[in-house]
Amino acid sequence: MTQPKVFVTRLIPEEGLAMIRDVAEMKVWEDELPPPREVLLKEVRDIDGLVSLLTDKIDAELMDLNPRLKVISNYAVGYDNIDIPAATARGIPVGNTPGVLTDTTADLAFTLMMAAARRIQESIDYVRAGKWKTWGPLLLTGLDIHGATLGIVGFGRIGQGMAKRASGFGMRVLYYDVYRREDLEKSMGVTYADMDTLLRESDFVSIHTDLNESTRHMMNAAAFAKMKRTAYVINTARGPIIDPQALYEALKAGKIAGAALDVTEPEPIPLDSPLLKLPNCLIVPHIASASVATRAKMAQMAAANVVAGIRGDKLPTCVNPEVYEKGIRK
Ligand code: DGY
Repeated sequence: MTQPKVFVTRLIPEEGLAMIRDVAEMKVWEDELPPPREVLLKEVRDIDGLVSLLTDKIDAELMDLNPRLKVISNYAVGYDNIDIPAATARGIPVGNTPGVLTDTTADLAFTLMMAAARRIQESIDYVRAGKWKTWGPLLLTGLDIHGATLGIVGFGRIGQGMAKRASGFGMRVLYYDVYRREDLEKSMGVTYADMDTLLRESDFVSIHTDLNESTRHMMNAAAFAKMKRTAYVINTARGPIIDPQALYEALKAGKIAGAALDVTEPEPIPLDSPLLKLPNCLIVPHIASASVATRAKMAQMAAANVVAGIRGDKLPTCVNPEVYEKGIRK
């Protein structure tokens, strides 16, 4: 009996690959860089299931190359790389990996906030450049985390994880979300604020919303102008939520104190980006979910989704469940 075929667009942890290999003929793109578009378009023609990454553009053109494609399983919680309405229209369920990366991502967001506030990158550069001559009363002074106001934009799982960490540090927490979570306000000690109030009152603005047409460039020149000159912006969500040119101008002109970014627009950030020259802009390469344990759990979830999909079963974590009412591809 021929086995179903699955293409995995990058080497993911073995915990997930083993699950797929058990039930399918699996092909893995093993390069460090994503498969070029033409490779993806070629590979998709002859498979039943696809495991994609956030770096792969999965659109209608690709889906139309294979009427047999039964499932797309994204190795990420975010899925802005996939045209979901196009998948639903074609009866293709799409899976993602929510939940398992919440705390790991919130850990990094908090790390970035602390590192930016306490000028860790500048301090490391200072020591390495041999500039450390003595203890200095004014040397590399930063902003206290305790007692500061944290503004969380997007109060889903990861935003709430950030709030939990902040409460342990004695921070005041404001949040903004299109869905107000009155049920959590008292127990978590957080206060709802509209976006303008949050921008005006926060010492740290941490972004945890998804990327969509209403959040694209929501952190623009007008938003930075509302922030305190001493405030920092932290982004572990998606790069295009911040307008990079507006961020550069705000940092350069001292309209805000600093930024710490795990995600950029574009990714990777070009080496000639002026943001890389600013001492008050800390950038790491989209590693928020990068702990060994979490990446293994993400692999198992992505595998469970693709395996369910090729069998015609419901995906354990499906981003377009409405596809089941419409009818999935057989
Ligand atoms: C996601 O899952 O969406 C992150 O950006 C990578 O883990």
